[in-house]
Amino acid sequence: MTEFNWPSLRVSALDVSARAYVPYSHYPVGAAALADDGRVVTGCNVENAAYGVVLCAECGVISSLVAGGGGRLLAFTCCDAAGAVITPCGRCRQLLWEHGGPDLLLDTPSGILPLSALLPQAFGPDNLA
Ligand code: THU
Repeated sequence: MTEFNWPSLRVSALDVSARAYVPYSHYPVGAAALADDGRVVTGCNVENAAYGVVLCAECGVISSLVAGGGGRLLAFTCCDAAGAVITPCGRCRQLLWEHGGPDLLLDTPSGILPLSALLPQAFGPDNLA
């Protein structure tokens, strides 16, 4: 769990949270993840007048990962505007599962946990193989 630079990843998440577009919730979120080629990919939440189509910060992370050449996510963190670690919503856990799988390490208020602990018995690519 100490093999990753969690403090640096948390700084990246907090930095990008400042760019969030949140005129409705006023709740900025920043997310950052380490990919298996060493890239750090980040994202912030982007809201919309049609509230239901909000893009969570995790969506930005996944989009950046794929647009930057793909790869697997190894470590992930997200935070609010104060830098407090928050856990991804249910939908975003599913998005992370696709690109990180059960062993993706998540920063949580309870410590570093594998995604399998936050999304047990997940449906995923293996089900469709
Ligand atoms: N939000 C995220 O960006 N990620 C999460 O995992 C939780 C929620 C955003 C969506 C919305 O813009 C705001 O937080 C309030 O729900």
